[in-house]
Amino acid sequence: MRIYLDTANIKHIRHGVELGVVSGVTTNPTLVAKEGIKDYKAVVREICSIVPGSVSAEVTVNDPEGMIEQARNIATWAENVFVKIPSTIDGLKVISTLARENIKVNQTLCFSVNQALLGALAGSTYVSPFVGRLDDIGQDGMALVKDIVDVYKKHELKTEVLAASIRHPLHVVVAAQAGADIASVPYKVLIQMMQHPLTDIGVERFLGDWRRVSGSGD
Ligand code: E4P
Repeated sequence: MRIYLDTANIKHIRHGVELGVVSGVTTNPTLVAKEGIKDYKAVVREICSIVPGSVSAEVTVNDPEGMIEQARNIATWAENVFVKIPSTIDGLKVISTLARENIKVNQTLCFSVNQALLGALAGSTYVSPFVGRLDDIGQDGMALVKDIVDVYKKHELKTEVLAASIRHPLHVVVAAQAGADIASVPYKVLIQMMQHPLTDIGVERFLGDWRRVSGSGD
């Protein structure tokens, strides 16, 4: 499973890539607004130059013609840019049009197996089930990831499953166990994934013992 960062923060993306574990990025208008970004195109292009894998940029209009026009434009920004299209009826039309033009689509805001199934048939390259937002309303977001993975496998659908709206490290574990292709995680969760109190205690103890036996701070 690949790990992407769900952010528009350049510093965090650079750090994730330096760690050797982040291969792509997902953004959305909320994340871009959070960073106070004015030049969306410039930031997406910069992110595309930092990560080896795909960078998802979302359309910001809602009518099919507008989405298609914007998506065609976004697709010219960089070779590794994917366009995020919502899981709606209009979105399906847009996805199938873009797929015929070989424009890569990340089908976003997916909350059901049926949305994922239709999106795959229309030609989405990724589908993004929003796990945390389902958990927020008392549903099991990870069950949706597992169900989509199962259905795609059973019917040999090639669309990749990107677990989105990840809120904590356990989400990532369950996404991996469910067979998700990608988990797109906030930077905070990426850091939490590598933290363990017993590791910190162990490092402290080894260093302390070494200092005592060597009689130095080295
Ligand atoms: C993914 O593509 C979305 O940008 C993101 O995961 C949404 O997460 P949220 O529900 O925490 O806003």
